[in-house]
Amino acid sequence: MCGIVGYIGDKSAAPFLLDGLTKLEYRGYDSAGIAVYGDGNIFIEKAVGRLNALKEKLKGRMPEGVVGIGHTRWATHGRPSDRNAHPHTDCHGNFIVVHNGIIENYMALKEELLAKGHNFTSETDTEVAAHLMEDLYDGDFAGTVCKVLKRIEGSYSLVFMSKDHPEELICAKQDNPLVVGLGEGENFIASDIPAIINKTRSTYILNDGEVAIVKKDSITITDREGKPVNKKIFNVSWNAEAAEKGGYEHFMLKEIHEQPKAIRDTMRGFIKQIRPSKNNHAERIASDGSSIVFPELKWDPEFLRNIDKVYIVACGTAYHAGLVGKFYIEKLARMLVEVDLASEFRYRDPIIDNKTLTIFISQSGETSDTLAAMKESKRLGAKTLAITNVIGSSLAREADQVLYTIAGPEIAVASTKAYTTQLILMFMLALYMAQLRKTVNEDRTRELISLLKKIPAQISETLTDVDPIKTFARSYGFNEHVFYIGRSLDYCVALEGALKLKEISYIHAEAYAAGELKHGTLALIVEGVPVIALATQKSVYDKTISNIKEVKARDAVVIGIAAAGDTELEKYIDHVMYVPDTDELLIPLLTVVPLQLLAYYAAITRGCDVDKPRNLAKSVTVE
Ligand code: F6R
Repeated sequence: MCGIVGYIGDKSAAPFLLDGLTKLEYRGYDSAGIAVYGDGNIFIEKAVGRLNALKEKLKGRMPEGVVGIGHTRWATHGRPSDRNAHPHTDCHGNFIVVHNGIIENYMALKEELLAKGHNFTSETDTEVAAHLMEDLYDGDFAGTVCKVLKRIEGSYSLVFMSKDHPEELICAKQDNPLVVGLGEGENFIASDIPAIINKTRSTYILNDGEVAIVKKDSITITDREGKPVNKKIFNVSWNAEAAEKGGYEHFMLKEIHEQPKAIRDTMRGFIKQIRPSKNNHAERIASDGSSIVFPELKWDPEFLRNIDKVYIVACGTAYHAGLVGKFYIEKLARMLVEVDLASEFRYRDPIIDNKTLTIFISQSGETSDTLAAMKESKRLGAKTLAITNVIGSSLAREADQVLYTIAGPEIAVASTKAYTTQLILMFMLALYMAQLRKTVNEDRTRELISLLKKIPAQISETLTDVDPIKTFARSYGFNEHVFYIGRSLDYCVALEGALKLKEISYIHAEAYAAGELKHGTLALIVEGVPVIALATQKSVYDKTISNIKEVKARDAVVIGIAAAGDTELEKYIDHVMYVPDTDELLIPLLTVVPLQLLAYYAAITRGCDVDKPRNLAKSVTVE
């Protein structure tokens, strides 16, 4: 997500801030800004675009001052613009703040502060933190920060600076990284170690709920009540490159491990307790206090209720997410859904009218085929909805309505966290539509929401024991052909697993609907051929087992993926990997994880360039 830096010491702050932001640009790069205190004033400069735009603006007018904070942004609330770039201030420019994360209750806080006469200048959630400081300030800077933290719900790493307290910076952490670097006569703050690694290797890694009062020659860590916390210094031994990857060997592995957080962040906006209002069409759909809401969707619910056909259009991994989305919408909202490859859709004269909803899924929001398909769909009169990870992307600008995955920048070419966040969003959208169309009863809705909330922790569980996956990748990483089979949603996930393996390990992998093997592909199953068999869909379980027996009878080496508690599968095959059990609709979010890891470790075994596979680009902006 966003990158944060802070400096307090004897040296000029701005060069460190810009250097630190350069190291963090991989975390977010749609706008950037700095604030520096000098001569009783705070100088702020911000610029939309890459960090270079800010550097250009500062040419010849670098602010003097020995205290400062900086931010490079990956937009979540409010499109990329100078106004929405951080730092943000209160009404009088006394309190300055940079933030990484999402303040969930910002709308309610903003309404409260507006009613008190506060003047907001941005569309961000962050700005409420600066105005809250102004509202609650009692002369005690750190004490007021603690009061503000008690009002804020959500995730954050925050750094506050005050015109009245230039001798200190105060920072706080909840669910987002924050580190304080110890120097001599100077101290540093950063969201991530790469920003400070060339200044110091002595750090305090803050834990959730901790607050740091950082002065040039002292650092005090407290809890949110202001009670001191005893903290051990952590000496960083990583080199700069490893630090950028958070200590992981590759961005892909880091991003696989980021999935629980990415999913939590994506769900955050849509599962909440909210009062239904005329303006946002929010609907309360579960009686345990949780609701699925889509405040961003400005369509009249009547339109969503009366849609007679949905197209989901995308490329590659996003297309595979669309295939899962079809199951969700058809099963829950009982609407007819077709899934199309974007490169095919616009040339096949699709049947579209004003009761058709077309959904375009794209991590980057810049894929040329997907964009062109959306334009065609609009031309034919359909309503268009974009699901993308990049605020302000071309797809987001072109669409009638947009829903955002909050996965943060995805740097590895092979998509992982974008896929799982797309699945989560599709699931919540389907459940929302189901409520509008009254196709799922309240008990089932409540059950699904409660299972949905467990998914991030279940993914973390899946990520704890990767040794069997490594072993399998080492044993079979040099096979030239691998088959993936499954039925129903397992088949959709098999397609994604096979794509991951192909693109980063260059192993020829094919995914088949398990029932389809006997119509030709079975001819390729001979002794020793690895087959990955997904068997998590309870409604077709027995049929899947029959298909697995078919390949086993041809002496394939079969590795199964099953839900915890399954005692059947291991009787027939060579090895089983288990994922936590959940509803069969949600289990693709779990089964894909071992497949991502399998592809990753197979690529490592073969010595491939995991993050930059040959012939591929992260964003395909040509047809
Ligand atoms: C595979 C992968 C690609 C993308 C595809 C669409 O790991 O990343 O298949 O999914 O190029 O990209 P977006 O989602 O940016 O439209």
